[in-house]
Amino acid sequence: MGIQISPSILSADFANLRAAAESVAAADWLHVDVMDNHFVPNLTVGVPVVESLAKVATQPLDCHLMIEDPDRWASAFVEAGASSVTFHVEACGAPVRLARELRAMEARAGMALKPATPIEPYEDLLGELDMVLIMTVEPGFGGQKFLDVCLPKIARARAMLDRLDADIWLQVDGGVSAETIERCAEAGADNFVAGSAVFGAADPDAIVRQLRALATR
Ligand code: DX5
Ligand code: ZN
Repeated sequence: MGIQISPSILSADFANLRAAAESVAAADWLHVDVMDNHFVPNLTVGVPVVESLAKVATQPLDCHLMIEDPDRWASAFVEAGASSVTFHVEACGAPVRLARELRAMEARAGMALKPATPIEPYEDLLGELDMVLIMTVEPGFGGQKFLDVCLPKIARARAMLDRLDADIWLQVDGGVSAETIERCAEAGADNFVAGSAVFGAADPDAIVRQLRALATR
């Protein structure tokens, strides 16, 4: 798989998510940020919104669960129509079991790490996953500044994934824009979430194409 762009609807108009999806026709995915006000200090959308969006979006849905107890909730997002579900390892009781459960439902299984969470303890688990998400802001809000301190972890994750004979994607999320995406790509990311940079622009689809061009080496 090459470079993929996953616009985050967190920065879109929640009263018109169908139009938001249509405005990024060049996107590979739509990234849906699910927050529960426990794992992160913010509250967004849940299963019913994913279910409705899945019916109208042409892009597959990439659900990022910033919630406690993803072991309990992740499968409901697959049933609602998500093609990829990413849980935070900090909140997950049994990441191998959960990844296997998601894949058995024919969804892609992603595992996310907050900026201060090291990748090394999870190296032996990576083969169970379809995607690793390295957060480049503290999760909870769109529009935050990109954290350069996360770049070495992206590079270390890339090296670990390259040692595996598997097509596991490396996603970055938080502060990704035309100013920062090249650094992420150079470090080895191949799947890029961008919220405010895309939906804050007058022509979101043009930004998706620009980001893809910048990330493609
Ligand atoms: C933050 C979310 C992100 C957010 C990114 O917790 O996980 O997906 O929408 O927004 P930007 O691209 O504006 O940093
Ligand atoms: Zn996200």
